Amino acid sequence: MSQAVVTAIAAQKGGTGKTALAGSLGSQWAYAGSRTLMVDLDQQANLTFAFGVDPATLEATVVDVLAPRNAVPAEDAVLHDVLGVPGLDLLPCDERAEALDTQLRSETMGVFKLNDALEPLLAHYDRVVMDCPPNVGELTVSALLVADEIVCPVKMSDSNALRGLSRLTQTVEKLNRRGAEVRFKSLVRVECDHAQLSYRLNQQALQRLARRLKLRVARTELRARAAWRTAITQDVPLILLNERDRSTREAQADVHDLARELWPRVKFPSPSEIRTQRRASAATDRKAA
Ligand SMILES: Nc1ncnc2c1ncn2[C@@H]1O[C@H](COP(=O)(O)OP(=O)(O)OP(=O)(O)O)[C@@H](O)[C@H]1O
Ligand SMILES: [Mg+2]
Repeated sequence: MSQAVVTAIAAQKGGTGKTALAGSLGSQWAYAGSRTLMVDLDQQANLTFAFGVDPATLEATVVDVLAPRNAVPAEDAVLHDVLGVPGLDLLPCDERAEALDTQLRSETMGVFKLNDALEPLLAHYDRVVMDCPPNVGELTVSALLVADEIVCPVKMSDSNALRGLSRLTQTVEKLNRRGAEVRFKSLVRVECDHAQLSYRLNQQALQRLARRLKLRVARTELRARAAWRTAITQDVPLILLNERDRSTREAQADVHDLARELWPRVKFPSPSEIRTQRRASAATDRKAA
């Protein structure tokens, strides 16, 4: 049986758009017909909230799956068809994940625990998208050991956007030297505004750094658009946001273009096709009720 392809959305820095990108990419994969599992590995549980799930209401999360004793099987903690997206599952997280780095470090082979826990699930999915915490601790390393590819968002409005990037690439190199098989799929420029000085400075530094580290930078940029914040306030990933204003349309077009650029062989439905599909299934649900 074939195994899922696992993408880790990782960056050393906080607030770079990892969660925003993970939620939208996961949703797009599911609407492209791939059985998709998203894994939230951040104690802030932002990806979990982004799918309208309050971790306080859950019996088990990834923290219980990685527990030192009486661990819950991963499949028992998985939520199915989140936000009504067919084929989109979520392994949620909660604030207790704060202790996971220390816990995993103290356990023998702790860093392989996530891999072992997810292994039985991989045959049931086509894609896995992991939202990593904003550091290169045990949990991120655990995720990199499961992952086939890394997508790393770089926030172009941040004057320190590139700080930590070489640390992440060095970690990846070290892991690969020890038998891991993970490669950088792409750096993705996020919150781009060409009029900003920080954009222009980051752009020059990024091109230099990417050349030196032999990393690909996606051609598609995610433009700075207010819709990204609206999506967060509505607890919905951007690609599923229902507004039809220009900011939403442009931001959704960007993520759609990005997915098509990174995985050109996949037929990702357009944001308006996704909207039509969601309207149709909501109408069917209403009729059934
Ligand atoms: N293209 C964009 N345009 C405007 N705002 C954006 C864009 N991408 C992300 N953002 C905003 O950046 C903020 C941080 O995004 P997000 O929470 O996804 O980052 P993160 O890397 O997951 O953060 P953390 O490290 O805390 O987990 C959010 O408010 C989000 O709306
Ligand atoms: Mg996040």
